[in-house]
Amino acid sequence: MSSTSRDGFTNKFGVIAAAAGSAVGLGNIWRFPYVTGENGGGAFLLVYLFFILLIGLPVMLSELLIGRRAQKNVFGAFRTLAPNKPIFMSVGIMGVGAAFMILAFYAVVAGWTMEYTYLAITNSLSQMGSAELSSFFKEFQSSTTGPLVWMGIFMILTAAIVIGGVKNGIEKYTKVLMPLLLVIIIILCINSVSLDGAEAGLAFLFKPDFSKINGSVILEALGQAFFSLSIGMGVIATYGSYIQKKENLMFTGFSVSLADSLIAVLAGVAIFPAVFAFGIDPSSGPGLVFETLPNVFNNMQGGYLFSVAFFVLLVIAALTSSVSLLEVVVAYFTEELNMSRKKSTIIAASSIAVLGALCVVSDKAFKVFDWTSSNILLPLGGILIAIFVGWVLGHDKMKNELEAHGGKVYLTGVLMVILKYVAPLAIGAVFLHGLGLL
Ligand code: PHE
Repeated sequence: MSSTSRDGFTNKFGVIAAAAGSAVGLGNIWRFPYVTGENGGGAFLLVYLFFILLIGLPVMLSELLIGRRAQKNVFGAFRTLAPNKPIFMSVGIMGVGAAFMILAFYAVVAGWTMEYTYLAITNSLSQMGSAELSSFFKEFQSSTTGPLVWMGIFMILTAAIVIGGVKNGIEKYTKVLMPLLLVIIIILCINSVSLDGAEAGLAFLFKPDFSKINGSVILEALGQAFFSLSIGMGVIATYGSYIQKKENLMFTGFSVSLADSLIAVLAGVAIFPAVFAFGIDPSSGPGLVFETLPNVFNNMQGGYLFSVAFFVLLVIAALTSSVSLLEVVVAYFTEELNMSRKKSTIIAASSIAVLGALCVVSDKAFKVFDWTSSNILLPLGGILIAIFVGWVLGHDKMKNELEAHGGKVYLTGVLMVILKYVAPLAIGAVFLHGLGLL
C-alpha cells in the first residue's frame, strides 16, 4: 500500500513523544521494580543499564532506520529491504506474535491500574494498612470478573485510538501527559526517600551485590531492557516508518532511551524505600507496585490527589504503549493482508482480548506470555535486526539513512561494530546461558 494509509508524525517533539510514549509504560513502573526485586536489586540494575547502552540503543537506532527507509510495516520493511532473504521476514512474524502475547498480559495489568484508579478516586485505598493492601491485591488479582471487565475496557480504549490513526491522538496527548507523569514520580520519590527506613531500599537498588548475578539474572536484565525500550519486535520500526526524513534519528533514539531509563530508575527510587519501610517482600512479583505505592500515598500530604493523578497517568502511559503494540499488528494486517484499518483493528483487538482473558484466569498463561515474549522473542528479534543492519544493509546505507536529515552523525563505525559483532554475540551468549544451554 502507498504512504496514504500511514500518518506521519508532524515534528521532532511529536516523534519523541510517541516513541517515548511507547517505551515508557507499565514496563518502567510495574515491571521494572518487580523484576529488579526478584533479581536481587542493584546488580540487576547495573546489568540492565549496561544492556540499554550497549545493545538497546543500537537496536533501537536500527529499527528506526529500517522503518524509515522502507516506509512499511515491519514485515513489509524486511521484504522490501532484503527481498531474497526470508529469514529476516521472521522478525515481522515474531513481532506480530510478540505483540499478541505482550498485549494480552499487558492489558490485564493495565486493567489492574484502572481498578486502582477507581479505588483511588473513591478513596478506598486510604482506608487500608500495609498488610491489608497486600491481601487486597492478591484477592483482586486472583478474582475473575473485575480484572476481566477492566481488561476488556482497556482493549476497547486501545482499539478506539488505533482505529482513528496514530497521529493526532497519541502525538497530541503524550506531549503533555508524559512530562506530567514524570513530575508526579519525582514527587513520589521525594516522599518515599523521606520515609523512616528508606535507606535499606536505596541500598537494595543502588548497592550492587554481585553474588546475585547468574545466567538467568542476566537474561532477565536483557529481556527487561528490550521490553522497556519496546524493541526487538517492530514497534519502533513501525513508528520509524512514520518519521519524516528531516528528523534526526540518532537524537530520537538517544532521547527515548534516556527518558525510558530515567523513568525506570525513578520508579525504583519511588518504590524500593517504601517496600522496605513497610516490610513488603521485594520479590513479591507482579503485585509489588500495587501493594507498595498506596502506602506512600497514605503517608503523604495530599495523598488523595496524588494517588488519583498517579493512577490516571499510569493508565495513560499504558495506553500509549498498548497502542503501539496494536499498531504493529494493524499495520501488518492492513498493508500485507489488505484489510481495512477498522477491520484489522477489530479482529486484532478481539483476538488479543481472548488471550487476555486466558491470562486473567490462568497465572501460568500470564507468566508464560510475559517471560517468553521478553526473554525469547524480543532478544531473538534483536539479534536479527542487528545482523540485518550490520551485515545486509551495511555501513554506508546505515549512515546515509541516519544522515538523511541533512546533518552529520558520528560514531557510525562503532555502531557498526556493535551491530555486526557485539550485539549478536552478546545476545546469543546471554540467551543460551540464561536458558542453561551454554
Ligand atoms: N515498552 C513498553 C513499556 O515499557 C511495553 C512495550 C513492549 C511496548 C514492547 C511495545 C513493545 O511499558
